[in-house]
Amino acid sequence: MREAVAEKTNEYLKKALSCPENAAYKKLYDAMNYSVNAGGKRIRPYLCGEFYCMLSGKTDFTPAVPYCAAVEMVHTSSLIHDDLPAMDNDVLRRGMPTNHVKFGEATAILAGDTLLLKACGTAASNPYMDGKTNAEAASLVARKSCGMMAGQQIDLISSTFSTTEESLIQLQTLKTGCLLSLSCMLGALAAGKDTAQAEAFGSIYGLLFQITDDLLDSDPESDTGKTRGKDERDHKATFVTLLGREKAEKKADELLKAAIKMLDGFGESESKHRLAELCRKTRYRKN
Ligand code: IPE
Ligand code: IPE
Ligand code: MG
Ligand code: MG
Ligand code: MG
Repeated sequence: MREAVAEKTNEYLKKALSCPENAAYKKLYDAMNYSVNAGGKRIRPYLCGEFYCMLSGKTDFTPAVPYCAAVEMVHTSSLIHDDLPAMDNDVLRRGMPTNHVKFGEATAILAGDTLLLKACGTAASNPYMDGKTNAEAASLVARKSCGMMAGQQIDLISSTFSTTEESLIQLQTLKTGCLLSLSCMLGALAAGKDTAQAEAFGSIYGLLFQITDDLLDSDPESDTGKTRGKDERDHKATFVTLLGREKAEKKADELLKAAIKMLDGFGESESKHRLAELCRKTRYRKN
């Protein structure tokens, strides 16, 4: 299922991000496509597709694919901007030079901006959905993207010296939880169902996802395609820099339990079991 969603999403992204022939601004499209196709795990599209199946009872996730593509566009936009010298100043992403290293800072800023707006446009024009659903989807993309950026702003002004566990949870719920809950909510919306429960699960899964990202940053055996040890070096506020690895591992175990328990609220289905498996894989991931 995960591979199938990734494949269909990739096809949709390719079409949505194709550059008109001989365009003078080709470099902008090259920059967007470079990061979109750099080998991301496509977890957000998967969540969207799986939530659609779980809540609609259908196995064909095609109607959700445009929303899957939209959420991956926002995600890639957030990564391009997150790596900029003015933010995390990272040179390695998905095992490749970061967007600004490859295309220059100005183009990387434009590529991130364009991807974000393309995400809204893609959500607003899902050909399988009616106008009202698409308007809601685009508005959700906009709202949750703003939440992610609010989290990034808190991240910028937080450091190991000034952050409490409570404010760290707020930071991570925003910067990471927003896009993961958006993914689940878009699946629910496409299925014609209420989005509240999907949002609650996505938010908890977001915390689990970010704490494992923090653990991987300080794990000598990790294989993330990103520079290791940066959080500590930059005095970033993370669960690991704040609590130490041992307590962060315990917190990750608690979040795994909580996320799996929340899935029970969705009733019995193959999708539910696959999502529980995703939670376990996320907890013990190496990339
Ligand atoms: C990285 O997300 C950003 C965080 C929220 C920690 P992913 O680990 O999902 O990145 P890709 O898409 O697989 O590269
Ligand atoms: C970033 O968190 C989350 C985003 C909104 C992009 P990190 O700064 O920890 O993500 P990585 O480790 O660079 O992927
Ligand atoms: Mg960051
Ligand atoms: Mg970063
Ligand atoms: Mg990180």
